[in-house]
Amino acid sequence: MIGDKKILFSGMQATGNLTLGNYLGALKNWVTLSDEYECFYSVVDLHSITVRQDPAELRKRARNLLTLYIAAGLDPEKNCLYYQSHVSGHAELAWILNCFTYMGELNRMTQFKDKAAKHTDNINAGLYTYPVLMAADILLYQADVVPVGKDQMQHLEICRDIAQRFNSVYGDVFTIPEGYLGKSGAKIMSLQDPEKKMSKSDENANASIYLMDDPDTIIRKFKRAVTDSDACVQYRDEQPGIKNLIDIYCACTNKTPDEAVKEFAGTGYGDFKLAVGESVVGVLKPVQERFDELSKDKTYIDKIIHDNAEKANYYALKTLRKVQKKVGFPERPRI
Ligand code: TRP
Repeated sequence: MIGDKKILFSGMQATGNLTLGNYLGALKNWVTLSDEYECFYSVVDLHSITVRQDPAELRKRARNLLTLYIAAGLDPEKNCLYYQSHVSGHAELAWILNCFTYMGELNRMTQFKDKAAKHTDNINAGLYTYPVLMAADILLYQADVVPVGKDQMQHLEICRDIAQRFNSVYGDVFTIPEGYLGKSGAKIMSLQDPEKKMSKSDENANASIYLMDDPDTIIRKFKRAVTDSDACVQYRDEQPGIKNLIDIYCACTNKTPDEAVKEFAGTGYGDFKLAVGESVVGVLKPVQERFDELSKDKTYIDKIIHDNAEKANYYALKTLRKVQKKVGFPERPRI
């Protein structure tokens, strides 16, 4: 707890262009949660270098992501928005937790297996211990809740296991975090293959809506979205393309699928797709405008980065010093 609020931690990687899926599935939720919890939202750049990055590009994307957090509606005075690499406690705690994690556990991580299969030329130890770093992120802030996608649930489980193991040896050092899966329906699928999740690494540019796509591009991509030959706007699994478009429309307009189906009864797919595209433009345009404005104000963003790194570091050190003492490291001289 900080004050009378529970603590929330989550992070996003600054790799690839963020998609509408990242926004509706994660960022938008983060904004909603930020009233109720004391939130730490990190740009997890330590995680990013588990696969090769272009340094200048990574730096740029990381700053853009942090700016986007604010543009999406996270108040940087209330939420701690910071770079993981600005708080050395993440790496230090990760090392300690590595010594409390079994290789057998890490071998079971499906994301590692997938990534190792994809990057066969660079299966590095960082990729392997990635879940331990993620555990350190969460435990460092004594987070109570962690909003994550389904694909990260296994990592959250291992985090809980590591924390419990550590606590059973040293007493109640870590808060055991709970996962928080966003509302269902927020899972946005590819516009070209509605059986697949919308992904920032999709090779087909028409499959994903990027957060920075201009209105014309957004409308064009929706016009090309894959549907079916039923010619009827219904919300059912047999029409995955239409179902996905309804989900997107509902997430953007806060309507229910039932309301959407009624609204579009008798409407052709062409007009329906246009309406969905327009609802997305309506949601993304203000975020884009705010992003452009913020990007111009270097002094302001620099101050946010400075102040929030300080705040994150303060809370991180509280936990880290306790852990270091527990495991038997000597008292630190004042340096
Ligand atoms: N691994 C997460 C992802 O790729 C990002 C992440 C890193 C994270 N550390 C975290 C998410 C801690 C939640 C909590 O999506």
